[in-house]
Amino acid sequence: MQALTRPIWPHPEKAGVVQVIDQRLLPHTLKILDLHSVEDAIEAIYTLTVRGAPLIGASAAWGMYLAACTAPGGRISNEWMEESCEKIKAARPTAVNLAWAADLLMERVRHLPEDETRISAMYAAAATITDAEAERCRFIGEYGLPLIRKIAEEKNGKPVNILTHCNAGWLACVEYGTATAPVYAAHREGIAVHVWVDETRPLNQGSRLTAWELGQAGVEHTIIADNTGGHLMQQGMVDMVIVGTDRTTYTGDVANKIGTYLKALAAKDNGVPFYVALPSSTIDWTLEKGREIPIETRNPDEVRYVQGKDDAGETRRVLVPPENSPAMDFAFDVTPARLVTGLITEKGVCPATKEGIAALFPLGKAG
Ligand code: MRU
Repeated sequence: MQALTRPIWPHPEKAGVVQVIDQRLLPHTLKILDLHSVEDAIEAIYTLTVRGAPLIGASAAWGMYLAACTAPGGRISNEWMEESCEKIKAARPTAVNLAWAADLLMERVRHLPEDETRISAMYAAAATITDAEAERCRFIGEYGLPLIRKIAEEKNGKPVNILTHCNAGWLACVEYGTATAPVYAAHREGIAVHVWVDETRPLNQGSRLTAWELGQAGVEHTIIADNTGGHLMQQGMVDMVIVGTDRTTYTGDVANKIGTYLKALAAKDNGVPFYVALPSSTIDWTLEKGREIPIETRNPDEVRYVQGKDDAGETRRVLVPPENSPAMDFAFDVTPARLVTGLITEKGVCPATKEGIAALFPLGKAG
């Protein structure tokens, strides 16, 4: 099979089918799933078959295409598209890319003739969003690279140690990644980089997905237990932190995978630069305060169980705590803007402030 560089694409031969990498099974199994309907797309988003803010947005867009393809009786009415749009938007609450992309396609379809042109319009719009996210991530790499290069020069070529949390790589973002884009750019340029990969409990997006991606790209990395970052920073073993985000307010507060806030606190205490990499599609232009960001809570069994491969090569899910101990699963937390050194966007690096963001995005919407 040709090396995959994207986690979602339209089926090359079958109209009305979208293919995705099933991220629940990585790194031990690489399985491609076919999505045939808007319900399939919603389930893929809800179950984290596809995940990561930019990919959730692209999946929402392809979900709208599938809705057009499967309209009851072939009647692609505004009612049907609106109903599908609302259901897609309810699939997960935190990543703002979901509603951004679904609403964008709804506006695109609303005034078109109620015929097959709606299918081709949805296809074109989904493909455009997908390609645009990839391009935004490429630019994030370009703008983030000088930050790493500068540290490499200060360290006289010794490896730059970058800590990251969760997976904000190409699996999460269509291509390049957000947090990983500058890392890949530095690696391509021959700068020595080493990534500390937080395992990212409960679903281990770090140890399963980021480690897999970095390994495939030949980037030096080490998986660490989630609570290790503070110690490493105290020991001078982290030069910078780069994470992604699921929703950033127009004032610079950042929601990202649970545990990000603690890394930001430790970084502040130790004088380690803490950068957040994001495309403008992840900025919520309506929200001023991070505490207004809806935080997803998920099935507590995600905390109680861990999944992995046993010595016989079988994927198994095992219970860790006592049978009856209750658990809670908060998927995200909010890092206040004051803890963020800078935002790395497709338009450049800016302070995590209302003014900084507005200077790069004067129209107050995704570029
Ligand atoms: O629950 P997930 O796996 O969808 O969470 C993903 C993250 O928190 C990522 O760090 C975030 O989406 C940024 S990805 C560009």
